[in-house]
Amino acid sequence: MIHISDIALLRKQIKQWKLQGKTIALVPTMGNLHLGHITLVKGAKERADKVVTSIFINPLQFDKKKDLLAYPHTLSDDKKKLGLASCDLVFTPSVSDIYPDGEATTRVEVPVLGVILEGKSRIGHFSGVSTIVNKLFNMVMPDISIFGQKDFQQLMLVQRMVADLNMPIEVIGLPTIRESDGLAMSSRNGYLTEEERSIAPLFNQQLQSIVASIQNGNKNFKALQLSVAKKLNDSGFKADYIEVRRVKDFQTASTEDINLVLLGSVWLGKARLLDNIVFNTFSKSKI
Ligand code: PAF
Repeated sequence: MIHISDIALLRKQIKQWKLQGKTIALVPTMGNLHLGHITLVKGAKERADKVVTSIFINPLQFDKKKDLLAYPHTLSDDKKKLGLASCDLVFTPSVSDIYPDGEATTRVEVPVLGVILEGKSRIGHFSGVSTIVNKLFNMVMPDISIFGQKDFQQLMLVQRMVADLNMPIEVIGLPTIRESDGLAMSSRNGYLTEEERSIAPLFNQQLQSIVASIQNGNKNFKALQLSVAKKLNDSGFKADYIEVRRVKDFQTASTEDINLVLLGSVWLGKARLLDNIVFNTFSKSKI
């Protein structure tokens, strides 16, 4: 596996691959890689000739400085995992190369999608995400890019940006990888104490219970959301939002809508956990 930090050297390598007719997949990450990321890399390898994984802890998307400072740096471990997953190139640019003026002077904003739910709770977060993903796309010029469905709003936002800006990139979302007890894999799970980790699976279980109720004909989304938020709060979580939305445009779901996504974000101790379930109202199987 090639390791490049310099943007000009990256462009040189990409140009060479493109001249050889190779297709390129980009898996953007912030490092601290777990099986969820590695599954994205393997999925990328099945779909393109060359896989580039970027590792860049993007200061622009952290709304709290202390979260940025606490974010784990695990490059040597990450490189081992990427090598074993047959990643072709790991790209680790520096903050000063990405933001030479200290911060991005030009930002990419995705209206609506960028300021609801996760974007409402973490002001500026999605502006930071769309800006860095855009910059990485301009550097790597991939044919495809792979994201995890765990961050469903992020995936929708990147797909929206690519469509709106006519970028010739296919953005693919791959299913959430879970621990055996159902907890979605996330770098943030590392912030949980042993006790918090033992109750964490309740989050997904409660989301599943909302989906089951809706599929059994209960269309009172608001009451379901409130009752699950209360159950989670009573069990030691702090629910931020639990919301049923339409998949097609992320607007609040009405009783006529069929293709839905249930999105949740909760605090458990120091960890902010995200999860979602994409489903339709008439089938018992989740999508
Ligand atoms: O999902 C992440 O790890 C980040 O938001 C991303 C897409 C790498 C952008 O910094």
